[in-house]
Amino acid sequence: MDAFVSKLMSKMTLDEKIGQLNLVTSGRATTGSVVNKGVEDNIKKGAIGGIFGGYGTDFIGKAQDLAVKNSRLHIPLIFGLDVIHGHRTIFPIPLGISATWDMKLIEQSARIAATEATGEGINWVFSPMVDIARDARWGRISEGSGEDPWYGSQVAKAMVRGYQNGDMTKSDAVMACVKHFALYGGAEAGREYNTVDMSLIKMYQDYLPPYKAALDAGAGSFMSSFNTINGMPATVNKWLLTDLLRKQWGFKGFVVSDYTSLNEVTAHGLGDLQTVSALALKAGLDMDMVGEGFLTTLKKSLKEGKVTQAEIDLACRRVLEAKYKLGLFTNPYKSINAGVESKSELTDANRKAARETAEHSFVLLKNKGQILPLKKSGTIALIGPLADNHSEMLGTWVIAGDPNKSVSVIDGIKNAAGSNVNILYARGSNITDDSLLNERAWFFGMKQIRDKRPAQEMIDEAVATAQKADVIVAVVGESANMSGESASRSDINIPETQRDLLKALVKTGKPIVAVLFNGRPLTLTWEDKNLDAILDVWAPGTEAGSAVADVLFGNYNPGGKITATFPRSVGQIPIYYNHKNTGRPFDGTGSAKFRSDYIDISNDPLYPFGYGLSYTTFHYGDVKLSKTNLKGNETLTATVTVSNTGKLAGEEVVQLYVGDPVASISRSVKELKNFKKISLQPGEQKDVSFNITTNDLKFYNTALKYDWEPGEFIIQIGTNSSDVHSAKIQWIK
Ligand code: NOJ
Repeated sequence: MDAFVSKLMSKMTLDEKIGQLNLVTSGRATTGSVVNKGVEDNIKKGAIGGIFGGYGTDFIGKAQDLAVKNSRLHIPLIFGLDVIHGHRTIFPIPLGISATWDMKLIEQSARIAATEATGEGINWVFSPMVDIARDARWGRISEGSGEDPWYGSQVAKAMVRGYQNGDMTKSDAVMACVKHFALYGGAEAGREYNTVDMSLIKMYQDYLPPYKAALDAGAGSFMSSFNTINGMPATVNKWLLTDLLRKQWGFKGFVVSDYTSLNEVTAHGLGDLQTVSALALKAGLDMDMVGEGFLTTLKKSLKEGKVTQAEIDLACRRVLEAKYKLGLFTNPYKSINAGVESKSELTDANRKAARETAEHSFVLLKNKGQILPLKKSGTIALIGPLADNHSEMLGTWVIAGDPNKSVSVIDGIKNAAGSNVNILYARGSNITDDSLLNERAWFFGMKQIRDKRPAQEMIDEAVATAQKADVIVAVVGESANMSGESASRSDINIPETQRDLLKALVKTGKPIVAVLFNGRPLTLTWEDKNLDAILDVWAPGTEAGSAVADVLFGNYNPGGKITATFPRSVGQIPIYYNHKNTGRPFDGTGSAKFRSDYIDISNDPLYPFGYGLSYTTFHYGDVKLSKTNLKGNETLTATVTVSNTGKLAGEEVVQLYVGDPVASISRSVKELKNFKKISLQPGEQKDVSFNITTNDLKFYNTALKYDWEPGEFIIQIGTNSSDVHSAKIQWIK
């Protein structure tokens, strides 16, 4: 590779080198106000290194033809796309997929996405998003794996493996782009693109591990984030892009900016486009997305001595190396296959995988009196604005997914119900009647399907329908783009008009099962109190309706667990399980004056991290330890016996947490260290064991050294982060 790239670079002019650093948008799926012009001419001139946002064999084939046939040095373009949770076959949104706790399914979803995308010439995906998020107001919590750094790291690795397939030259492999580097999920007040400011220990301990894990899994590229870190925008942050990413972590790939994030450094207050472009190059940014700051200013900066030839060469080399690693110099078209869109995408096998993944992602939040699974007899009133819908179920970031090919909840239920079930339907409400939300919650070409009738008329119809039924299934929640980029919310309730509908349905006295669509944890305190069952289905993707029906009728017993805490009220945010103890912890008993709490609400979340029910019940025995006193490199084995005490076979995610009550710094009350997903038949029991080493005790101390300290540790195993059985050990050096 070195020799090939050096030889190629020896033939390149300065303009051609700078051209490689220029990433333009096709203009098809834009997330900013700037769109590139003169793309064809610039490709021929060698002034473009890659294009993103375009897809389809026709578009990519033609653009690559221009580069490899009509540009002077025939350098292929790299083609990026936001393939986030599937390409044509849409899988659950990332927050949903993370609730599967199933790395094989997660990897498979990325593999299928890569296969479909490469067929259309895509060779680079802007995924995985590994930003830790502890704030459900932030819309992009939907695009990540929740709040836990260890768990997020497992998902990050699985996604990279799935995309890159062990060898990026393979015709069905794409390069992953780890984003958003870094700490984007730590935006103040959950407001999109807002400032991030946090201690180094918090950064290293809680936010950086998933980026590092993705790097260790071989991710070929990183995307810099919009936010500042320590006052310095990530895109021009030398500490971040060079000292940490390359020097400390040893990253060998290339870094691309986010959409005009380089130009936005001007608004951050660091100077004009020429100044910030020079800063970015010097900081370690290699490719500039959309803003053409590199293209239009680097030559001048070189003349004026503000950047060096070596810096331009290095960035150019990294971009060319990426193309080499993808095998584009040998096969610029990868597995591009004209007509593939109709031939080998959305295949039965891919749909089956999407359906299975969706089922595994569903989280049963409540199931009073075991109302679920539903009987396949009697009358069901299917109500709600999301029941008869083909597009919202796909979720945020669906660029090439076709709503016409997805299964709505009503169709899924009708297909599965059989002839003994009578299904009635009423829409009941619109998704929202709030004028601001109406304006903001639909974009990327999506339109809200609105019913023009007055809200009360729709509610009356729904109530009349419900009265004829044995059970109500209310399909409610957020629209696809009520979460995702630029979709922060200060109120994370189910939109008011849907809550009004639910209130009217509750008055009928009929049992109510809510099928909840959401891209984030919502505040469900009212729903938890008043509804009989809540099945959280996130945005399940192409096979939504079939998967919902499978779970509602018990063909599959749900076992998903939430990876982000559900607060009782937005006022509790940020709320996360691995918090600190504080000096005045409130233990939930007695008078709380002068303890760390609120005077109007409990500290506890509504549903803690790792929570999720099943149609069966599990009993956990005490934690049994192989030893209680350990030394140095010994291994501890902790075991619990888990029994299925209900009547149905089911899956359970057994979770291991470790607490470190005395250390040289104040530590989190507990941290997730491992999990095992098991299946149990009714009456069956299994011993579930975890091996624990001193690696599981390590943390970043005040010198940012990652090490463990001797003393007491609390081993905790349970069904979620709050409900654990504990045992103490001593571990000395
Ligand atoms: C902006 C988003 O922040 C990023 O996640 C995405 O990959 C780019 N736009 C490209 O669409």
